[in-house]
Amino acid sequence: MRIAHIASEAVPIAKTGGLADVTGALAKALGRMGHRIFLVMPLYRRSLNGPPDGEPVMPEIDAGGFRFRVFRKRIGPVDYLLLDAPRLFARPGPYGTPDGDYPDNPVRFAAFARAAILTIAGIAGGADILHCHDWQSALVPLLLGRDPALGGAMASTPTVLTIHNLAYQGSFEPWVIDAARLPRNLFTPDGFELYGTVNYLKGGILAADRLTTVSPRYAQEILTPAFGYGLEKVLTARKDRLSGILNGLDTAVWNPSTDPHLARNYSRRDVTRGKRICRTALAAELFLDDDDSPLVAIVSRMAEQKGIDLVAAAIDGIVAAGLRIAVLGAGDDDLQNDIVNACRRHPGRAAVRIGYDEAHAHRSYAGADFLLMPSRFEPCGLGQMIALRYGTLPVVNPVGGLADTVRDLAAEPETGNGFRIAALSPEGLIAALSRAASIIWNPSRLLQARRRAMAEDHAWTRPARQYEALYAELLG
Ligand code: ADP
Ligand code: GLC
Repeated sequence: MRIAHIASEAVPIAKTGGLADVTGALAKALGRMGHRIFLVMPLYRRSLNGPPDGEPVMPEIDAGGFRFRVFRKRIGPVDYLLLDAPRLFARPGPYGTPDGDYPDNPVRFAAFARAAILTIAGIAGGADILHCHDWQSALVPLLLGRDPALGGAMASTPTVLTIHNLAYQGSFEPWVIDAARLPRNLFTPDGFELYGTVNYLKGGILAADRLTTVSPRYAQEILTPAFGYGLEKVLTARKDRLSGILNGLDTAVWNPSTDPHLARNYSRRDVTRGKRICRTALAAELFLDDDDSPLVAIVSRMAEQKGIDLVAAAIDGIVAAGLRIAVLGAGDDDLQNDIVNACRRHPGRAAVRIGYDEAHAHRSYAGADFLLMPSRFEPCGLGQMIALRYGTLPVVNPVGGLADTVRDLAAEPETGNGFRIAALSPEGLIAALSRAASIIWNPSRLLQARRRAMAEDHAWTRPARQYEALYAELLG
């Protein structure tokens, strides 16, 4: 099959979060299975791994008044098609700066959606399926066959829309319709209109042939007001088209026995010794005490979603319970400050590194005994799956993908692989971590749990087969 993925980020080109891991790794897995895979994304400044290969691959595209050049870059089995419109995309970040989102995002991603369609229409052989990800490409299914600026390009191509995070919808005031030169007649309840606003994701949800989200549990949760972010009714109306496919991990990147960032590589066989060395190294790197107390790590965007405010409020108690804590993250300024201030009260016991640091993330997963993820909601979550692979037991709020992947060792002694937080509050976090800490003093139980976690299969093979089956069904 010829599949075109359309996304705003993908490894190894540009990444702000798990979305990039997933689009890049899924494309690669499908390519390895023998499909012809295109990954269409904007060409950002600075984010590119080397320049694109050679000259533009087709004549300049006019996407409703915005001009794009199309570059191609072949990485492994995937053809990345990079859409270059410097005025719109050659900026420091994909979506904004620490001060906020770019105000012209609705214009940028409307132009991108159109340009993506025209690009795929322009390559010899086109594509059999258009697979879109999140609000930034959600206009694609809606505009297909409905936007005069596209001249009918790809009009009857089946579409898939994957929702990675319903909290981001591309919701704007109606002025964007003219600014982005979108068809005014799509501002209706069966188009992109939602309670008087323009909502790109909503338009895509109604128009796509199939909807997926990134875990089975989240696929259920988003039908409810607590997790639906105002789109639960729209989603419920289309729930026969909606399924949840749990993300995988790029197991070549996330592999403790070959990971180049670690103080010591290890496998299931020598996990006890390997993790002890990695833990000592991580503690030294962060000026934490060098002792035998359990070490809990956080690797996370600093966002409300991730429960970072609860962590800041719990740090005193976590330290009092005898654990050390190492935080790595970047994002919201206020949350960052709260964490920094809490850690300052506990030199040697709590440390934070602010920033985006891939190598340090690897060392955190390897060196920690536990990975804490107190997310308020979590469509899938990659951190807990990485942790499992590194023999690091996840301590999670059981929602979304966290509920689908983490089983509590107390409730399920034979099959457990981590700990579930019973109450999402600072006290609840401290209680769950204290419970987790007690396993450290039972070496045989700890070893068993770690080995079980490391033996789990979170590779892309299975999910890629599920997407393949979905495409095959669409192509009948
Ligand atoms: P989300 O996409 O909601 O941020 P995920 O759990 O799906 O959450 O993916 C997060 C990814 O980003 C993981 O690969 C994680 O290791 C990585 N990550 C998050 N914060 C940082 C950071 N500060 N430095 C390095 N990697 C990070
Ligand atoms: C989003 C979600 C995260 C998910 C990722 C990749 O960023 O917040 O839970 O793992 O997308 O699908």
